[in-house]
Amino acid sequence: MSNVIVFDHPLIQHKLSILRDKETTSKEFRELVTEISTLMAYEVTRDLELEDVEITTAMGETITTKKISGKKLGIIPILRAGLGMVDGFLNIVPNAKVGHIGLYRDPETLEPVEYYSKLPKDVKDRTLYLIDPMLATGGSLIAAIDVLKKAGCKNIKSVNIIAVPEGIEKVKAAHPDVDIYVAAVDDHLNDHAYIIPGLGDAGDRLFGTK
Ligand code: PRP
Ligand code: URA
Repeated sequence: MSNVIVFDHPLIQHKLSILRDKETTSKEFRELVTEISTLMAYEVTRDLELEDVEITTAMGETITTKKISGKKLGIIPILRAGLGMVDGFLNIVPNAKVGHIGLYRDPETLEPVEYYSKLPKDVKDRTLYLIDPMLATGGSLIAAIDVLKKAGCKNIKSVNIIAVPEGIEKVKAAHPDVDIYVAAVDDHLNDHAYIIPGLGDAGDRLFGTK
């Protein structure tokens, strides 16, 4: 069954409080999402495996030391709002490949509609960080994982800034192998499936489209 890990680092919590504030501008919102994503990327990469390597230091000493073991990483933002988290992840894993999955939530049915997908050629061989600030009903995340699994991917981690229990449960039931990393688990969804207390519409706040 999926693990749900809440990152309670004080810096993440502090920045998340500013992110939620309705007075925070789009410019500040984008900067905060990048900062939070950088911190989340640092935390979520804790379990990367190391291997012994031999190097000669600038002092002429040859030593056995550690490097990350040739693991191939991928960052997959769910468009649009996931784009806001890409730079934060690339700050930590600059050599990761980036794939994109375009989904929007139909405002009437609340069902995800897929409109785009472009993945790295060797995506199935990569450990993937699937990023999206909001996990609400879970429909978008489930659909994005479906896309990745259809492409043969096996090692997928979801990283979301805010989630709600009902969305988490839906994703866990559909994809029990995918761990979910979040900065906060909020209280509930309102009648329009917006997260309460939440931060509003993440895409609109990032890109100023409202
Ligand atoms: C938001 C958000 C998630 C989705 C979450 O995207 O970024 O992708 O809603 O909702 P769910 O868990 O109920 O599926 P939205 O559909 O608003 O598209 P956008 O990122 O293009 O604004
Ligand atoms: N998508 C958002 O951007 N915000 C929510 O609260 C729910 C879904």
